[in-house]
Amino acid sequence: MLCHWIYQWKNPKCSGKLPPGTMGFPIIGETFKFMKPHDAFQLPEFVKKKILRYGPLFRTSLFGAKVIISTDIGLNMEVAKTNHVPGMPKSLARLFGENNLFVRKESHKHVRSLTTQFLGSQGLKLRMMQDLDLLARGHIDLGASNGSLDVKETASKILTESLAKKIMGEMEPEAAKELALCWRDFPKGWFRFSWNIPGTGVYRMMKARKRMMNILKETVLKKKASGEELGEFFKMLFGEMEGKAETMNIEDEIEYIFIFFLIANEATPSVLAATVKLISDNPKVMQELTREHKRIVRDRNDKDKEASLTWEDYKSMTFTQMVINESLRITSTVPTVFRIIDHEFKFGDYTIPAGWIFMGYPNVHFNPEKYDDPLAFNPWRWKEKDLTAILSKTFIPFGAGSRLCLGADFAKLLMATFIHHLCRYRWSMKTETTVLRRFILMFPGGSDIQISKDTEVDDSAGY
Ligand code: HEM
Repeated sequence: MLCHWIYQWKNPKCSGKLPPGTMGFPIIGETFKFMKPHDAFQLPEFVKKKILRYGPLFRTSLFGAKVIISTDIGLNMEVAKTNHVPGMPKSLARLFGENNLFVRKESHKHVRSLTTQFLGSQGLKLRMMQDLDLLARGHIDLGASNGSLDVKETASKILTESLAKKIMGEMEPEAAKELALCWRDFPKGWFRFSWNIPGTGVYRMMKARKRMMNILKETVLKKKASGEELGEFFKMLFGEMEGKAETMNIEDEIEYIFIFFLIANEATPSVLAATVKLISDNPKVMQELTREHKRIVRDRNDKDKEASLTWEDYKSMTFTQMVINESLRITSTVPTVFRIIDHEFKFGDYTIPAGWIFMGYPNVHFNPEKYDDPLAFNPWRWKEKDLTAILSKTFIPFGAGSRLCLGADFAKLLMATFIHHLCRYRWSMKTETTVLRRFILMFPGGSDIQISKDTEVDDSAGY
């Protein structure tokens, strides 16, 4: 009986020929090998070894689930276009809620289009630019007064504060503080086995989820009862949906907001901190950036030098955009397309069975035929390229298809605004700062930079 079960585990049923690979130990699969920390700017050893052995498509088992891993850009795009259910291990599905507005087919398209209105370039220009600028300026000035700041933490504060205001409106300071505290328990439970047992990361994460949902719900209910204003995004999203055939209850609204905060906060602060590390390690890049941002301040000439950044300023940050694209390319060492395969299909000789999790790695980012010397951080390779595109046949950091990231332009704006204010000072990140990946980006020694008011970059600096 046991032998039969183990045999079945190792040889999953399929109507055709499964992609090559091994399923590892029962239940555990190959999770431990997969989760081994690795250099954040290279694909994991696990994936590299499998590619050498099996080619661009293979099967495995992770977190108790059957998984197909693909590094073929054509297949990744195809799966992204034709499969719509996000693929994630049970621990994550629990965190997100198993039937939320993002997952439900009937509501997904609608909430996507409303969210795009808010986070598309028109929305960013009109609604977010000024807040992001003020927050980045405030937090970086404070860091400069203190002599140092943690990039990841600071970016997370800027992001949470800017979105919270637009979604929830003004919040009681206690509730806002409590909300910010809850974030700390999330990354620890991200990508784990799904056991929700006291003492585990998943347990702490689920408790934090409950606490956050309660805070959000209390705030919304209080505001609705007193007629106090909710944020414009909340009104836009749910005001429009109320009265539609689709019924929207408060639980749905809160869950959507919670997931939105969660997704927004997952990658951006750590990608920004990794970008800052890459800049700090490359003096020529730092010099070129300083030149670009000094020019923006200088061009304000007679007007107030402390004036807010404008959309035109942002659009003129060509080199900064090149740095951001290059950082997105080189930090994309995780799958960017996640789906549950919803119908069996053939790829070459192989059959991809329905129900399996599909993880598409953007291996194309490291293909020497597409990117010369692909492991080098070289923003100049983006010269003359379309810097506004968030997806192409050779660039897929934000996924593709029906679940293409909704916050890509927002994330890029936040990163550029942060870099702009950073470049008003001289700063550096310790050379020993390391950036690892264990599925998520990790900074074992923190992501502190030294920055000081005394080192404000002035005209005499010769840049
Ligand atoms: C550097 C930062 C970011 C990266 C690298 C990133 C990457 C991604 C990826 C790879 C996906 C999955 C796409 C797929 O499965 O095909 C995704 C989805 C998503 N992202 Fe982002 N993201 C970032 C920042 C943000 C921000 C700041 C927000 C919100 C303000 C956001 C909102 C979303 C949403 C809502 C989805 C789900 C879309 C859907 O299911 O329809 N992301 N992102």
